[in-house]
Amino acid sequence: MHKINIAILGSGGREHALEWKLRQSPRAERIWMLPGNGATENNVSITMSDHAAIRRFCEENHVSLLVVGPEVPLSEGIVDAFADSRVKVFGPDKAGARLESSKIYAKSFMRKYGVATADFGVYSPEEDASACIAKNKGDVVIKYDGLAAGKGVYVCSSEEEAHAAIRDLLEKYGPQAEFLIEEKLQGEELSVIGITDGKNITCLLPSQDHKAAFDGDTGPNTGGMGAYCPAPAATEKVLDAIDEQIILPTLNGIEAEGFDYKGVIYFGIMLTEKGPKLLEYNVRFGDPETEVILPALNSDLLELMLACFNGSLCEIEPDFSEEYFVDVVLCAGGYPGKYEKGMPVRGIADLLADTLCFHAGTQRDGDRLLTSGGRVLNIVCHDAELRKAVEKCYAEVQKIHFDTLRYRRDIAHRALRRRP
Ligand code: AMP
Ligand code: GLY
Repeated sequence: MHKINIAILGSGGREHALEWKLRQSPRAERIWMLPGNGATENNVSITMSDHAAIRRFCEENHVSLLVVGPEVPLSEGIVDAFADSRVKVFGPDKAGARLESSKIYAKSFMRKYGVATADFGVYSPEEDASACIAKNKGDVVIKYDGLAAGKGVYVCSSEEEAHAAIRDLLEKYGPQAEFLIEEKLQGEELSVIGITDGKNITCLLPSQDHKAAFDGDTGPNTGGMGAYCPAPAATEKVLDAIDEQIILPTLNGIEAEGFDYKGVIYFGIMLTEKGPKLLEYNVRFGDPETEVILPALNSDLLELMLACFNGSLCEIEPDFSEEYFVDVVLCAGGYPGKYEKGMPVRGIADLLADTLCFHAGTQRDGDRLLTSGGRVLNIVCHDAELRKAVEKCYAEVQKIHFDTLRYRRDIAHRALRRRP
């Protein structure tokens, strides 16, 4: 078997989970983390925006596959920067990455290719949005066009709120900023994440994230406070509708637009009374969804990734665990606002052998492990019963200590309500 060297770009829990999963492949030789974190091995300190340095590193170290974790390097064209290199880069080119980096582009793409989504209009400060806001009685969602790490979306319930959102948006992103006004949808959210070669797609298990900071889905939006899979909300009927009304038209669009797209496509979906509607695309693995969907995948992830480059993706039938996987994110107090860093982390060695611990914001300091971010650790447990997986996870969480540690206590609450 021909073994290959791999590099993974990024430093969060998603990238730690990618390292963990790819390391299990019999085809993986060396794996470098650019730059990695306190748990990952072979960390190389490199600037993520320096595509030329990343390319040099990969070529000098005979890397065959570069897996790009976060969206920013993709939106800055890292795939294009390797266009004439023998290094394969897993991710879409810059044109394809606009599906995530520009919400206006993404919505226009959805409209053009008939993807089920909320109605919308595009506005700029010169255009008066008052009529649209009044027509909807303020029940609208206002979104900044560009990448905003989840902070550019305002879900409003009154006209005052909607006008205040626009003022805030223009203050934050500049007086010329373009924005979207969308119909406000109601329903449960679902993340469907697939691996695509630009024509075919292999979806991993449907999962659910918990974006709000506090229990009961209250408080400010975060990068994600926990996840679980498979999400029972995704019945076969729901998944068929998602396939037909969202995934297939998207693939048609990707092909028709001629994107060079060998990577991940993430569908952020809302399950409404009128069927599933696409809220957003991401062009990379979701975080923290990845920390549950990769452990739940029995198949070789590296084979799936490489299949995108040699046209054999549809020949691989993926195999999934029968169990539920639950991830509770441990974060530093204050996150997603101001929080402290550099606090010693203790207790990881006490976790059961079966528990997974993916680091998100840690760094090594000699023998010590210190926090280095808002989201610090992901504790992942599994069981044939979702409730037991959740219980195991919270029992394991008790073993971890760092100053100001905080987490949500209701991960998977929607599914647990469904399945008493
Ligand atoms: P987005 O980054 O576009 O996925 O938006 C972030 C979050 O805002 C989503 O996860 C939803 O919770 C909420 N959201 C976005 N669009 C809508 C919509 N049209 N209706 C209701 N909620 C929305
Ligand atoms: N979990 C949502 C995201 O990765 O954007």
